[in-house]
Amino acid sequence: MSDHNKPDTLHGKIEKNIAVMMVLILLVISIGALVEIVPLAFQKDVTEPVKGLRPLTALELEGRDIYIREGCNVCHSQMIRPFRAETERYGHYSVAGEFVYDHPFVWGSKRTGPDLARVGGRYSDEWHRAHLYNPRDVVPESVMPAYRWLFENTLDGKHTGDKMHALRVVGVPYTDADIAGAEAAVAGKPEVEAMVAYLQHLGTVIPRNTPISKQAQ
Ligand code: HEC
Repeated sequence: MSDHNKPDTLHGKIEKNIAVMMVLILLVISIGALVEIVPLAFQKDVTEPVKGLRPLTALELEGRDIYIREGCNVCHSQMIRPFRAETERYGHYSVAGEFVYDHPFVWGSKRTGPDLARVGGRYSDEWHRAHLYNPRDVVPESVMPAYRWLFENTLDGKHTGDKMHALRVVGVPYTDADIAGAEAAVAGKPEVEAMVAYLQHLGTVIPRNTPISKQAQ
């Protein structure tokens, strides 16, 4: 019988007392988590925006909210991983500094459809409109749902300024003028316009064809 199986050793006592065992397990896991997470909060790469990053415009922000409302992130990720198969298909891999103004992140975790992190500028606005109206009109084998109501619903912009204000509280640099002009910038526009504006901006701060060796910072 090895030492730790003897009930009178420390190890033996811990193994036979489930409450103490649980507390100690939690302690060990917490240390592991802290060691991984805390340094991240202080790393420049992670906390500073990439050069040229700007907050979403009022219209793009409404598009982002429609994206979340419709669950686009359930089928689409916005996170290009640093693997050749991904960078050849989608462009430069995603870097943390591209997402510092995103609250919440819409990275997603499932790819029924392609990654959209750098879809901005890849297609024309007309293509996106046709695709959202009926994906099969432009991609016959598509299993993506049609979003026709985006063409019928219009935005009133009543809360757009409030949303920008809330984002400013958590560090997104919206100006007073941005917030004051938010309602006028979106009121009366069809939702599809906001959706397309959002999609066309995605990932454009680092152009898709940026060479991987010239790591974007
Ligand atoms: C049920 C899963 C599903 C949902 C939900 C979904 N999509 Fe898709 N999406 C796909 C699939 C599959 C494709 C690939 C075929 C195609 O292009 O239609 C695709 C393709 C796309 C493309 C073209 C990407 C490229 O690089 O070619 C865009 C843009 C897009 N979706 C946007 C959206 C938006 C915006 C929403 C929410 C309003 C959405 N999708 C919801 C499955 C989905």
